[in-house]
Amino acid sequence: MKFFTEQQLTACASQYMRMRRFRVFALYGDLGSGKSTFVRACAQTLDITRLASPTFTLMQVYSIHDQSFHTLCHVDAWRIQQPKELIDIGFLEYRDDLQTLCFIEWADRVSSLLPKKRLDMFFSILSPSLRTLQIYERA
Ligand SMILES: Nc1ncnc2c1ncn2[C@@H]1O[C@H](COP(=O)(O)OP(=O)(O)O)[C@@H](O)[C@H]1O
Ligand SMILES: [Mg+2]
Repeated sequence: MKFFTEQQLTACASQYMRMRRFRVFALYGDLGSGKSTFVRACAQTLDITRLASPTFTLMQVYSIHDQSFHTLCHVDAWRIQQPKELIDIGFLEYRDDLQTLCFIEWADRVSSLLPKKRLDMFFSILSPSLRTLQIYERA
């Protein structure tokens, strides 16, 4: 188990983006645990300076210029009642596109739609300024 300040979490996000080893990031954890902060930090390394909150749209898609990826897909499943809602707005196309980076907040709400190969990241709040992060590589 590792503890992260916001700055350390941002540095961790940059490392994952530099590595380019993972394409789908499934993010779990309570409100305020740092999921969006992590996604924002990843997006910033790809020159997305304003990450919109997809809370009301469920999904936001961005074009990116990167050697490995052309699209970034950001899902916030907090308000989703059934996985079908995400299918209806075209998520599977992004999920299955090897040049699309995917970040899925509240991944437990759409677990049936997650690809087998992904990184599972569990965030939790340790104190106002510290988070813990448990990371599992799924194949
Ligand atoms: N160590 C930390 N890691 C991540 N966020 C932190 C940390 N310490 C404080 N924060 C704050 O906690 C909030 C996390 O919110 P957010 O990333 O939107 O959470 P979530 O998307 O999981 O609901 C932000 O306001 C952020 O500034
Ligand atoms: Mg969030």
